[in-house]
Amino acid sequence: MTSHLIHRRLTSDYPVIAHGDGVFLYDRDGKRYLDGSGGAAVSCLGHRHPKVTAAVKDQLDRIAYAHTAFFTNAPAEELAEWLTARAPEGFGKAMFVSGGSEATEAALKFARQVQVERGEPRRTRFIARQQSYHGTTLAALAVGGHVARRRIYEPVFDAGLLDGAMSRIAPCYAYRHRRPDESAEAYGARAAAALEAEIQRVGPDTVAAFVAETVVGATAGVIPPAPGYFRKIRRICDRYGVLLILDEVMCGMGRTGALYACEQEQVVPDILTAAKGLGAGYQPIGAMLARDEHVDTIAAGTGAPDHGHTYLAHTTACAAALAVQKTIEEDNLLENVQARGAQLMTLLQQRLGQHPHVGDIRGRGLFVGIELVEDRDTKRPFPPEHRLAAKLKSTAMRNGLVCYPASGTADGINGDHVLLAPAFIIGESEVEMLVDLLERSLGEAVGAVQSAGGEAQRRSATG
Ligand SMILES: Cc1ncc(COP(=O)(O)O)c(C=O)c1O
Repeated sequence: MTSHLIHRRLTSDYPVIAHGDGVFLYDRDGKRYLDGSGGAAVSCLGHRHPKVTAAVKDQLDRIAYAHTAFFTNAPAEELAEWLTARAPEGFGKAMFVSGGSEATEAALKFARQVQVERGEPRRTRFIARQQSYHGTTLAALAVGGHVARRRIYEPVFDAGLLDGAMSRIAPCYAYRHRRPDESAEAYGARAAAALEAEIQRVGPDTVAAFVAETVVGATAGVIPPAPGYFRKIRRICDRYGVLLILDEVMCGMGRTGALYACEQEQVVPDILTAAKGLGAGYQPIGAMLARDEHVDTIAAGTGAPDHGHTYLAHTTACAAALAVQKTIEEDNLLENVQARGAQLMTLLQQRLGQHPHVGDIRGRGLFVGIELVEDRDTKRPFPPEHRLAAKLKSTAMRNGLVCYPASGTADGINGDHVLLAPAFIIGESEVEMLVDLLERSLGEAVGAVQSAGGEAQRRSATG
């Protein structure tokens, strides 16, 4: 069949999705897949949840869309109330956009506007971290540290677009950066100190905000911060008048076992973003929450956040997200995230903890990363040309498992990991099935990579 769609990979054929049910997906040929990663940590309620589909249909029966320059709407108001009532102290307002990248753009612009309106127009710079991902639109890409996704746009950034506005410090990544003689806390303090050094380097009165994922997601394969890291980051931001933006697009909304991942770090940011699990894939939606003092600064100044989209606070998207969030709370799903997350981690440690090519298994709640290495002792990654992550993805799909492998884990170019983020409704036997399918797929993918590598070596030796 000729496809007229611009696919993510123009040379790939994709199975056509037909329907979903709970934690399973079914393609048009009737093949079943266990959704072990909710796509990219999106489908936190699984598929075809009756309460959410009913809420979406009900909303569409009332009104599909009304522009926010003319009207507000009940689902958006109620969703903002719901999220702020459960947010860390001091977050009284939220803005709704259509996804994670838009939430990042809104957060960056909001931070800049706050700095300007509180009389600090020289603050134009943003500091983020290497191996971070904040989205694919140009400013979100410019601030993030995803080497592969930035590569062809670097000259565009250098040519003037956001030139000089963004810089990055090392991630807080204990598996690769903590010294053997260092405690977890000491490493966290050292990693956070990099922010102070960078603020000093670029000029303390020029920095608008520091941006970080509370738990790193897709670029480096689920890295929870070292103990105390974010509390020290918070103190540094306060010392220098720098706003702290925490990106919880992937790790937020219950994925780590708390509605806001920053609660688990006892840290309160200035601006917080969320997206994927917010609407659980039932509708595209992202959110930016800002502390009252910052909203008040703009209210007392220009009176208008300088940021708007046609689909701000979309009625159906907000109705879907509200139903998702109510379901998570009413069904006590965060308890299941913690229980099934603990089960998943134990099983992975038992089954893969001693695997010769598993370097690290880490995570929080139902958010888990497994870093793959060629050599466990030296932590040497597989050569990037072996494309282990891509092989694991296709092998897992063949075996009926959707998981989220990616490469560039170690330094942006080298390294592979697989990310797991199953739905919060996953059951005990489904967690077992997930680990079975992953173990089998990993064995087959590593085997394929090794035999292809051996074959290449033989060819170069003989040829
Ligand atoms: C932490 C983080 N921020 C931002 C984004 C961008 O979100 P979206 O793909 O919805 O634009 C992502 C997407 O993976 C993400 O993981």
